[in-house]
Amino acid sequence: MDKAAEKRVLDSVPKGVFIAGEWRDASGGATFDIEDPATQETLCAVANGTPADAIAALDAASAAQAEWAATPPRDRGEFLRRTFQLMNDRADDLALLMTLEMGKPLAEAKGEVTYGAEFFRWFSEEAVRIDGRWSMNPSGAGRLLTMKQPVGPCLLITPWNFPIAMGTRKIGPAVAAGCTMVVKPAQQTPLSMLMLAQIMKEAGLPAGVLNVVPTTKASDVTGPLFDDERLRKVSFTGSTPVGKKLMEQAAKHVLRVSMELGGNAPYLVFADADLDAAVEQAVIAKMRNIGESCVAANRFHVHESVADEFAARLAQRLGSMKVGRGTEEGVQVGPLIDAVQRSKVAELVDDAVGKGAKVLIGGEPVGDRGYFYAPTVLGGISDDATLLREEIFGPVAPVKTFSTEEEAVRAANASEFGLVAYVFTSDIKRALRVVEALEVGMVGLNRGLVSNPAAEFGGVKESGVGREGGREGIDEYLSTKYVAVDL
Ligand code: SIN
Repeated sequence: MDKAAEKRVLDSVPKGVFIAGEWRDASGGATFDIEDPATQETLCAVANGTPADAIAALDAASAAQAEWAATPPRDRGEFLRRTFQLMNDRADDLALLMTLEMGKPLAEAKGEVTYGAEFFRWFSEEAVRIDGRWSMNPSGAGRLLTMKQPVGPCLLITPWNFPIAMGTRKIGPAVAAGCTMVVKPAQQTPLSMLMLAQIMKEAGLPAGVLNVVPTTKASDVTGPLFDDERLRKVSFTGSTPVGKKLMEQAAKHVLRVSMELGGNAPYLVFADADLDAAVEQAVIAKMRNIGESCVAANRFHVHESVADEFAARLAQRLGSMKVGRGTEEGVQVGPLIDAVQRSKVAELVDDAVGKGAKVLIGGEPVGDRGYFYAPTVLGGISDDATLLREEIFGPVAPVKTFSTEEEAVRAANASEFGLVAYVFTSDIKRALRVVEALEVGMVGLNRGLVSNPAAEFGGVKESGVGREGGREGIDEYLSTKYVAVDL
């Protein structure tokens, strides 16, 4: 990729905090550096938002709330539709920026821009479908009226692994519902969100509806917002421990909460599965986003009669993937986000190997610059291997065997997480039995990818509360008001 294009796109990003429709320096003027995880070089510096900036952002969001709630739904929808179009027009620049700050290969970054923009198109169509109900009181005396209203100013906290799509999945329904918002993007990847804010400004978003505060001091900056009773909702995508802390803070003023937290997705392959499809889809379920996704297949439970063949074929596929900087031609596996994440992946692999696992491919960091880790397949996993219980968030596929359907379901459910599971079988009765028994919010049935703006994304157990996307996504930003009507 040509360096001039990288410079042009980096230069084009506003680097300030975005408050009340304007770009400003952070109060106090501090900045922080954004690193390219493939080279460990500094890409640029961005305003380091402070608690004062957060409060200014909430002031702006609160000031804009009433007018935005009263803006015709059609206008809110058309604003989202315009932004969808602009995002697609600028997809190459957005994708390059995302690859530079996050590391994913350019083709995947482009896929994320398309995926992210689709949330705006979906919610542009939902904005005009906010409805209520009119019914007769069962006693016949009077009527019951219910209406939906925006919950009010929201705090949206977005992760580094999908810097655009996890933003649009929250911003889209908030805008459609008539809510204003303060967005805190992840420290590692604020550039994509800053560029998105600029695009939304150009698409005509009224000042104050969207405010963005990048920062390295996440809890200092969000703390005062939780203390402020004008804030009415928090939506967070990230780890379960952080989600739990945010839920505690949200309790102070009893905020509405949406939490998309950790996963530990089991990938079940039964003896009657189409093995070609199971391997093909396993590559997607494991390697999408370099494995840094809460819906990444975390552990492969494969029937003992096909496990060796499945593992060998998966190792062959993963071993042939090109590792490198995401901007380079043909690269399929970029770097992990930072040194901490790479060490965690290495420790999980070393722990499994120390407990008897066999490395079928990979099993080590790659290169001496950037946070690369080799696509890895492990066989012979023992029950006490830590990676069966913890989210790996990297390109590592542990393959474990089972003998019966009951054993497979028991193993799949043996987790405090319950986000997604993948099931491969050609027996429809088994498929439905297993799908029903799994303790998860989503299932990929003979598919390794569930994410879709038109579908409800979310988990059960410690994977979170609430749903994003689909028909339910907008409900997270609406309150129901019931009116008892006397005729
Ligand atoms: C994630 O949050 O890691 C997954 C996002 C998606 O697939 O939509």
